[in-house]
Amino acid sequence: MTVRQDFLKKVIVALDVDSGEKALELAQVLQGSGCWLKVGLELYARTGLALIAEFKQLGFNIFLDLKLHDIPTTVEKTLKILVASGVDMLNVHCSGGYEMMARAAEVCHKANKKIIGVTVLTSMGGDELPTIGIQGDVEEQVVRLAKLAQKAGLDGVVASPQEAGLLRRECGAEFLLVTPGIRPAWSAKNDQVRVLTPAEALAAGSSYLVVGRPVTQADNPREALERLF
Ligand code: C5P
Repeated sequence: MTVRQDFLKKVIVALDVDSGEKALELAQVLQGSGCWLKVGLELYARTGLALIAEFKQLGFNIFLDLKLHDIPTTVEKTLKILVASGVDMLNVHCSGGYEMMARAAEVCHKANKKIIGVTVLTSMGGDELPTIGIQGDVEEQVVRLAKLAQKAGLDGVVASPQEAGLLRRECGAEFLLVTPGIRPAWSAKNDQVRVLTPAEALAAGSSYLVVGRPVTQADNPREALERLF
């Protein structure tokens, strides 16, 4: 395996496209590169789990990004169904609490899947936290929830690459840090504001990089993926 393929194993391409056909076309173009695919709420709402088996047949690892947040029993039962679809990593909102996360971890680990947590949505600024009853700054809340997730047995969290250094120090070397907000120097920022390049994010402690539009909207997505490093 080349050094580049080793890096590409840490890239999760976000399939934010508006049809199952487009998602499958992209998967076929990216097949064999070593990258993961991320199926988010929008694609899931369109296609359900139908595409997962096809992606697995093409050899991909899949991150199913549904950010579950419900009572522990509902999350547990839902995860039992989702893990059976063959996905490799799933997520829940940490603010669902310890019991919910612990039950999620149990189901996913029994099925040999990774389960990570969402701390504070990056769309939510510090000014907004008090409106949902949270005092203190964003970083404090991110670390609080990441530590609770770790205690409950989750494998890691989704985080802004700007928080990766802090979380790596607070949660140790084994904790997975999955970071969106990645932009290589050659690509448009789109609506992402605070971005790091792939190399910077890895240096800051990211375990996996979530990359969407720089790859999916490129004229040649395979070439764009391979130009990330
Ligand atoms: O196209 P882009 O690279 O910005 O896509 C990033 C992906 O990561 C999208 O699927 C987006 O929903 C997701 N994401 C994000 N920022 C977060 C959490 C998830 O951009 N804080």
